[in-house]
Order: sequence, then structure tokens, then C-alpha cells
Amino acid sequence: MNPWYSVLISLFIVIGLVLIALIGVGSIGLNSLFGVYIPYVAFAVFIIGFIWRVVEWARAPVPFKIPTTGGQGKSLPWMKHEKLDSPFTTGQVIVRMLLEVFLFRSLFRNVKGELRGGPRLTFASSKWLWLFGILFHYSFLTIVLRHLRFFTEPVPQWVQLISSLDGFFEILVPTFFLTDAAFLLAATLLFLRRVVIPQVRYISLPNDYFPLLLILGIGISGILMRQVFHVDLEKVKELAIGLAAFSPTVPKELGSVFYVHLFLVSVLAAYIPWSKIMHAAGVFMSPTRNMANNNRAVRHINPWNYPVKVHTYEEYEDDFRAKMKEVGLPVDKE
Ligand code: HEM
Repeated sequence: MNPWYSVLISLFIVIGLVLIALIGVGSIGLNSLFGVYIPYVAFAVFIIGFIWRVVEWARAPVPFKIPTTGGQGKSLPWMKHEKLDSPFTTGQVIVRMLLEVFLFRSLFRNVKGELRGGPRLTFASSKWLWLFGILFHYSFLTIVLRHLRFFTEPVPQWVQLISSLDGFFEILVPTFFLTDAAFLLAATLLFLRRVVIPQVRYISLPNDYFPLLLILGIGISGILMRQVFHVDLEKVKELAIGLAAFSPTVPKELGSVFYVHLFLVSVLAAYIPWSKIMHAAGVFMSPTRNMANNNRAVRHINPWNYPVKVHTYEEYEDDFRAKMKEVGLPVDKE
């Protein structure tokens, strides 16, 4: 497929989703559908789909021990063992996994290959993707945690603390959150990276662009709601707490932008289990990450092995002991 089609298809789908919510609530007045039924269905699809995917992965046989290594494995005592890059024990695997999950360690070692005059293939360190990745994920996490203020009464102190730290510089009224800026910047750069770099554009599909554009749509509608259209937060809270307690009431006064936001979030939730966003769970289930490089010390049993009729040395010797002794071959048992 022409790479540009992937961008356009994804863009049109996201614009279409925004229009569906605007028309659905603004013109037809389907507030309950967009405020209650769709979020519930989306959340159910998310939970069931997520569990289903993880169970499928857990059930998949792992015929070989295939940890990705990036350094010297445990060997002779005088050879320096790279514990994180070639973990030997479960503890080392856990430390490597934690660094991967919280700091994106493998992405930090990202390199960019380039053909220079000669032609000569050179590799140089490339930290941009790591930086945008970290910025994107941590701002996303902070925003989601801050949103707990809509679902809780009283709002936990730590949620208030995150909000006040995030709005520390008190720019604009209401305060513009730092993570909102970081989130928009990082998501935009991750999107532009796919569009601008020809090699990345070539391998990108609608499933790469769509989640980025959808998430950008969620961020933009959220920021518009906070800074421009000003939604009644008491009413949002009424709906959110009602949804969480399974006894929702749909306040009339919530504007269309709120429903666009909620609809895009619902679509994201329902889409996650079937998309690349499942890497959040996949990283834990990946044999290249969750196995120790201890093949020689601990035998890995291939679940595909079928029972093989073997002829052991003991049996061989029993069969041929007399003949072996006759020609002077050593035997284990007399
Ligand atoms: C993936 C989940 C979500 C993301 C990434 C997201 C993102 C955002 C962002 C970036 C903002 C801008 C202001 C801020 O950061 O607080 C925002 C605002 C807002 N979001 Fe969300 N949102 C999500 C889910 C939800 C849900 C489920 C609700 C429904 C209760 C909601 C309701 C709101 C409201 C009412 C605002 C305006 C806040 C204000 O005026 O202070 N969001 N959202």
C-alpha cells in the first residue's frame, strides 16, 4: 500500500469518529448512548480482550530458550559476566525487565545506520526516539492518574499533589498542565517521525498511524475542554462516579466536546486489545525478555517433544557385554 494512504485512512477514520460523536450528541441527542452504553461496551471489550490476549500468549508453547542478549553470558570465572545484558538468574531477568519497563533501556541503545561515502555503513547513537517515547508514556500516565479526580470523592491527596506539581508554573487560567504540553509535543513528534523519515514511512501501516492520531485527538479534545470550551466539572464527576458505581445518570449540560473526548477514549479502550498498544502486556510475555540465558546450566524442555523410544548405553552394554569383553573393550558393569 502507498504509505501516504495509511496516513490518510487513519486521519479520515479519526475525523469520522469525531463527527460521529458531534452529530450523535449535538444533532440527534444520543447522550445516553455516548455517555453510558458505548463507554460500558468499550470497557468490557477492553477487559475481556486484554485478558484473552494475555491468556493466548501464556498458552503459546515456548519450544526454545531465546532471551535476547547484548553482552557476555555467564561463563568461566575470569570472564566478566554482563548480568543485565545476559541475565543468568530470575533476579537478573527481573532487574532487566524493570529497567526495560520503566526506562525503556533497550530503546536507549537505539542506533541509526547510515551509508556514508565509500559506501561505508556506519552506526551512530540515536536517542530521539527514546526521549519522545519516555516523554509520551510518562505524560500519558500522569494525565490518566490526574483523571482519577473525576472518579473519586474525596479526591485522594496524592492525586491532588500530582495535579499541583503538574500545574506548578500556573500558566493560563485554568492552569495549563506541563504534561499536556509534553504529551502533545511527544505524540506529534512520534507521528511526524513516521511521516517524515522515508524508511519509517515505508514500513508504517494504518495500525501505526491510527492509534497515534486517536491519542492526539483525545489530548486535543481534552485540552480544548479545559482551556477553551470549559466543561462543568461537577457534572463530569457526577457522570464519572455514576459510571464507576454502575448507576450512571447522564447530566444534560455536558457539551459536545466532552462526548467527543469520551467517545475517542472509548474507541481507544476497545481498540487496545487488538492493536500494537498491547505491547504494554506483551513485554512481560515475551520469551526474548522474560527468560534467563542459562541454557547450559538449566535444561529447557521443549513442550513439542514427543516421547522417543531410546536405546540407552546401559541397555546397549547389556546387549553386547559379552562381545565387548571378548574383544577387550572396557565395560561399566561386569
Ligand atoms: C486514555 C484516557 C484519557 C486521556 C489520555 C485523556 C486525556 C486528557 C487530556 C490531555 C486532557 C487535558 C487536561 C488534563 O490533562 O487534565 C483531558 C481533559 C479532560 N478529560 Fe480526559 N483523557 C482520558 C480519559 C478521560 C475520561 C474517561 C474522561 C471521563 C470522565 C475524561 C474527561 C476529561 C475532562 C472532563 C477533561 C477536562 C478537564 C478540565 O477541564 O480540567 N477523560 N483529558
